[in-house]
This record gives sequence, structure tokens and C-alpha cells, in this order.
Amino acid sequence: MPITYHLDSSARPPSVAPTLDASQREVIDHPGGPLLVLAGPGTGKTTTLVEAVVDRVERRGLRPDQLLVLTFSRKAAEELRDRITGRLSRTCASPMSSTFHSFCYALVRRYQPAELYADPMRLLSAPEQDVLLRELLRHSRESGQAAWPASLHSALGTRGFAREVHAVLSRAREVGLDPDDLTRIGVESDRPAWAAAGAFMREYLQVLDFESSLDYAELVHRAVLLAESADVQRELRGQFGAVFVDEYQDTDPNQVRLLQAIAGDGRDLVVVGDPDQSIYAFRGADVRGILDFPAQFRHADGRPGDVVALGTTRRFGARLLAASRRVAGAIGVRGSIDAATFQRFRNPPSPSPSAPPPTPLPRRRCR
Ligand SMILES: Nc1ncnc2c1ncn2[C@@H]1O[C@H](COP(=O)(O)OP(=O)(O)O)[C@@H](O)[C@H]1O
Ligand SMILES: [Mg+2]
Repeated sequence: MPITYHLDSSARPPSVAPTLDASQREVIDHPGGPLLVLAGPGTGKTTTLVEAVVDRVERRGLRPDQLLVLTFSRKAAEELRDRITGRLSRTCASPMSSTFHSFCYALVRRYQPAELYADPMRLLSAPEQDVLLRELLRHSRESGQAAWPASLHSALGTRGFAREVHAVLSRAREVGLDPDDLTRIGVESDRPAWAAAGAFMREYLQVLDFESSLDYAELVHRAVLLAESADVQRELRGQFGAVFVDEYQDTDPNQVRLLQAIAGDGRDLVVVGDPDQSIYAFRGADVRGILDFPAQFRHADGRPGDVVALGTTRRFGARLLAASRRVAGAIGVRGSIDAATFQRFRNPPSPSPSAPPPTPLPRRRCR
């Protein structure tokens, strides 16, 4: 059964198509398959993504429910949905625009084995998770399953330690580690605290299961395992003809795996982002995710995914953008992005006022 989401499009008239510049046009005209759009703040990344979504419906004949549009915060997902709905004709249904987390939640709810989870899964908020961790840590000294080093015993009941453990467990899940992996890494690298964290993670996950609860990292982890299972993958790939991700620099390795399951193997996937703006590093986002996109998402024939750099800055002057690029340029990493495109991203050309305005998207009403 497909994951469903229904949004009545708003009653207001569709907004007017922006006049796209040449690099934005290149994104819209991209024939399909994996595409990374790389650009700085205020260069029209989201606008381009919205137009690419609209193009799939109005020119390439996909139904809105065949499109999956993902981003990170709820506010960004709502804004994206409004912008897409505003650009589609009013009688069109809207594509699914969702946060990674709510998409994962829908996936887990849809496919979780009924006999395993009689009650609906409850998603723990971060503060709830901290309270639970603190309680379990306080008991873990007595229960003795997790052999915490003696130097940490006095910290076990503190809020600060619970937060540290929270971070370690989340990072471990985000890179796809199981409790045993964490323990093994701790033993091999002679870090007894990590080995203990692995044992503690097992206890913690058992408690979550017992309570039919999930935390965010576990939610994405389960969604990945589901999406990678053959039947679910076939269904998801059958449902979604094109997938879009805004703020791609904020993906963590598990979210990349999820995208690979749904939109890998050369399928239609458009992601936009700015490696210099990765804000979720504390939450496991890995800037290499965006820099390695071309190698991780290849065309069906094995060619690396395509990359387009947008050039025109619209929110502030070209000088400010150039200055920010110079600072970021010192970082000097480009992953598997080809040198010329990365150079265009770092040193975007100034907009040329004499260039002829590109043609706006033709509008088509759908019933
Ligand atoms: N081709 C365009 N013509 C005119 N305005 C544009 C164009 N592309 C983007 N904009 C405007 O530039 C601003 C920034 O665009 P946005 O897509 O939000 O940028 P980003 O996602 O890169 O931060 C918005 O006000 C948007 O309407
Ligand atoms: Mg944006």
C-alpha cells in the first residue's frame, strides 16, 4: 500500500513563474537521473527546486503523488509545500513535501509488522529521550550490564552525561552502527567508555521496544532497513517517480542510505544544497554527503551524478557572497565534484544585466 498524504491545494491563484537564469534553466532542463545543485545562500536554490518539481508535473506528465520532496525542519517543509502548491494550478493535488523524520515515521507506521507492535509507535521528543536516558543511566550502575569505567561512575546520574550519551548513541545510529558494532569499536580502539555505551545502547533499545517508542535516530534507522528490504523498496520505487531534497548538506549517512534505497541506481533525484552551510554537524550531518553526491548517486550507466552550480546571488550583493566564498574556500574540499563546477560554485559569475531574460515556464492547468 502506498504511503499516502493528501493536501488540498490552496484556493489562491497560482503564483507567477519566475524568470529563471541560465544555470537555473539548466536544472529544469536536466533530462533526469541524479543531479546536485550547488550554490550559496540566496542564490535561488529552493526556487529552482520548486520549478523542477513543477516541471515534472506540468511538462513531464508525473502526477503530484509520484513526487517526494524532502527537507529537514517542519517549517521548511511547510514553506516548500506552500511554494509548490502556489506554483501548481489550483486544482492539482500537491506532491508530498515532508521532513525526513515525518516521512520515516509514515514509512515505519505503514510497514511495521502488526504482530510486533500492537500499539502505534510513539516518537520521543529530545527532552523525553534525555529523561529516559538519565533514568536508565542511573540504574545502569546497579544493573551492571554496561561496564562503565570507574572514572565515570559519579557522572552516571547527571544531565550532562545523559546528553553526551544521547549524542554518542544518535551518531552511532546515524552511521548505521548496532550496539555490537559500537562495543567492538570501543574494544578495538581501547575506549572502554564506547564499549560500555554499546552495551548500554542495547539496554536502551530494549526499553524503547518494550515501550513501543522510538527516538529520531532509531526512527530513521528503521526506515532505512525497511526501505532497503526488497518488497518495500519495489513499492517505494514504484510509487515515487522523482525525489527532491532541499538543504541536502544537512543529510546524515543514514538519510543518504534512505535516498539510495528510494532513488538510487540512476533514478530521478534532484538535490540542492550548500556545503558551506552545513548546520546540523552536531546532529550527525556529514558535509561529505553533499561533496560525495556524484560518486554516491550515479547514472544507471555508471557515470557520476551531474552537478550544476547556480551563480546569481539575490539576497545580498555579489561582493558579500564572494567574501563568504573566500573564507569558505580555505576549507578546500570538493569530494567527488569536478573541479570546474566546484570552481563555479566558489566563484560565481556576476549576473549579466545584458543577457536576454530566459523564457518563463509555460503554464498548464490540470483538472
Ligand atoms: N530567477 C529568479 N528571478 C527572480 N527572483 C528569484 C529567482 N530565483 C530566486 N529568486 C528570489 O531570490 C530569493 C532567494 O531565493 P531562494 O530560492 O529562497 O534561495 P536559496 O534557497 O538559495 O536560499 C527569493 O526571494 C526568490 O524569490
Ligand atoms: Mg533555500
